[in-house]
Amino acid sequence: MKVFTTIAEMQREILTEKQKGKTIGFVPTMGFLHEGHIGLLKKARQENDILVLSIFVNPLQFGPSEDLDAYPRDFEKDRQIAIQEKTDYIFFPSVDEMYSTSPSVGVIAKERVNVLCGKSRPGHFDGVVTVLTKLFNIIQPTRVYFGLKDAQQVAVVDGLIKDFHFPVQLKAIETVRESDGLAKSSRNVNLTPEERRQAAELYRALELGRSLIKKGETDRLKLIQTIESHLKKTTESTVDYIELYTYPDLKPIEEIKGKVILALAVKFSKVRLIDNIIVDI
Ligand code: PAJ
Repeated sequence: MKVFTTIAEMQREILTEKQKGKTIGFVPTMGFLHEGHIGLLKKARQENDILVLSIFVNPLQFGPSEDLDAYPRDFEKDRQIAIQEKTDYIFFPSVDEMYSTSPSVGVIAKERVNVLCGKSRPGHFDGVVTVLTKLFNIIQPTRVYFGLKDAQQVAVVDGLIKDFHFPVQLKAIETVRESDGLAKSSRNVNLTPEERRQAAELYRALELGRSLIKKGETDRLKLIQTIESHLKKTTESTVDYIELYTYPDLKPIEEIKGKVILALAVKFSKVRLIDNIIVDI
């Protein structure tokens, strides 16, 4: 496994692999890898000749009130995981390497951004699509892997790839969960033991929603109220949002039909958790 910190070296290596006709699987991350990321690496390893992992904590996608410096980092542990998962290359650039000059062009996400988490994080998805545009040009992947844990990100990236004609296949991978259903996340360590126990109710609430939809519930408000009262009964969290939209367009719905995303965000004492399920009826 090789680690590259410069764009020039990474591009040179990719060019050599491409000339050999190799397919390239790409997993973009911000590091501090856990089993969610590992799920993406495993899938990409299976489906491609070459596996590239990028680790870059992208300042552009952090808001002014979000603590970029506090973002957890452990490159040595990430490197060990990458070796275990038979990664061929890690792209690990510095902020200066990625954003060396004052940029003359930026990428803006226009659709699918003003709902769910995007609503409270203005500019966040502009930062995501800008860094991904750069990464796609550097890595030139055949297939790129994202987790449905961040389903809105998948929807926005779907728009980016289609609108800008990137010759890459988008692979959306199911959320990896703890045995009690809690979605794996680096933020989970910030839950108190009692909150950690309660956090399993997020997925139970979503599953309750799924079963109501499958049983024929079509009233959006009724569904949201049932989920909210489940969370109020079983957790001490504050609900940030519980929403239903079409997927991947993220358009509002009144009547539940077709492919929909049921998504929620709740706040515990020190951490805000998100989760979602996609239901196709
Ligand atoms: P990061 O938060 O490091 O996540 C990298 C990828 O891992 C994302 O596609 C995310 O959806 C996926 N992931 C995280 N937890 C998961 C879980 N429990 N199950 C399945 N997949 C999971 O998302 C980003 O980084 C950045 O926005 C990035 C795309 C790298 C652009 O900077």
